Amino acid sequence: MTAAFKKSGKIPDILITPPGPKSKSWHERAARHMKGYSNQVKQFPVVWESGQGNTMTDVDGNTYIDFSAGIYCNSTGHCHPKVSEKIKEYSDKLMNCHDFTTPVKTLFLEKLASLLPGSINGIQLYCGGSEAVEAALRAVRVIKGGKYEMFSFWGDWHGKTMASMSLSSLGNEAFGPRAAGCHLSPTPNCFRCPFKLKYPECGLVCMDILEGTIDNEGTGMQAAVIMELIQGYSGTVVYPDEVYSRISEICKKREMLFVVDEILTGMGRTGKMFCCENFGLVPDVITLGKGVGGGFPVSAFAVKEEYDWALEKASASTTYGGNPIACAAGLATLEVIEEENILENVNAVGAHIKKRLFKLKENHSIVGDVRGRGLLLAIDLVKGRGTNEAFVEAGKMVYEKAFSNGLAWIPAENILRLAPPLTMTEELADKAIDIIDEAITEVEKYFKIST
Ligand SMILES: Cc1ncc(COP(=O)(O)O)c(C=O)c1O
Repeated sequence: MTAAFKKSGKIPDILITPPGPKSKSWHERAARHMKGYSNQVKQFPVVWESGQGNTMTDVDGNTYIDFSAGIYCNSTGHCHPKVSEKIKEYSDKLMNCHDFTTPVKTLFLEKLASLLPGSINGIQLYCGGSEAVEAALRAVRVIKGGKYEMFSFWGDWHGKTMASMSLSSLGNEAFGPRAAGCHLSPTPNCFRCPFKLKYPECGLVCMDILEGTIDNEGTGMQAAVIMELIQGYSGTVVYPDEVYSRISEICKKREMLFVVDEILTGMGRTGKMFCCENFGLVPDVITLGKGVGGGFPVSAFAVKEEYDWALEKASASTTYGGNPIACAAGLATLEVIEEENILENVNAVGAHIKKRLFKLKENHSIVGDVRGRGLLLAIDLVKGRGTNEAFVEAGKMVYEKAFSNGLAWIPAENILRLAPPLTMTEELADKAIDIIDEAITEVEKYFKIST
């Protein structure tokens, strides 16, 4: 067992009500210059000092259970010794050599290719998720001979570059029009069905609408559908399994590519190395990021072998993509995932947490839905049993109360996102759920809601 799994003293350990005075001071100074912090930070501006395994410590000395993994990144826990060691080694050896080959790049590519599903084999390396999505979309255009029309779903999030953003729910009208050829279709979100229908009686009418969108908004230049298999940013939105085979058929019928954005769901987060494996799906193109580098910036996209030729025509050259430190971090992370049977841990601890979440749903009327796969989970707060009306005020309060009591996690208005490092233990997870239970109880009391 590595240090990433070890318990170190009392956890959580809140010495001073957070955000404490040191956090306040550091954050105020930073915020004079750094503009546009996320709501997560604005809501709870704690300042981090360090992270170890499944815990994080702030500058006031408070230690928290980590249910955020950065933002789904620290797959092998904070500063896993093997990952950190490899980063140190390469920071002394070679930091950048453009897109030349290094032995560590070769080993990383070979390892990644051995894990990718089906005949997916052609890879390009980048640093951030948006960059990988953008590069994947460039490759799609080459594969499809210049066709450029892409289709995604309401609530999807693919990044902040122009094309990736144009295939996402922007939530900011000031960003102006989407890039040409980018279209969104209603999401197959059964908990909040855009058509107010029930699955399976609905017959997945949303898939008929996707076909209609492709055929009516498209102008003969339809190239691909790109989707998150489970929406992360929108609050761990899960779909019926049937959705994926329907989309595959829709794409196949029109000779379009199926691109799955696994930046958030990949690298074991859902209990399989890649989420698409849960549904027996081999996409044409896959994007990866977040968990690949164990916290270090590493991203990639990969295509089925039959499309390797297109990657030769869409250069992989970038300033930092595939740099030796990134490859070393990526290789070490993939090795740790295998050596420490991390997928087994994700499935066991994920199932345990889910069982406890279902109990929360039974015991609290504002818990409208609990959902997810592996260690990609969420609690959806509603304004009373039997409704799906979002309880945003409660979401904000539960997030802050639990954080104050030692749980670092991710809010999404009424939805509370649970995304611990993949090394999370049952023991710490139980403490985290106790903290959430207590916070929900207090909030129900505050709103005078009976359980
Ligand atoms: C599914 C998905 N795709 C792409 C991105 C963009 O990644 P990045 O923020 O690293 O650019 C994200 C980030 O949250 C994501 O969740």
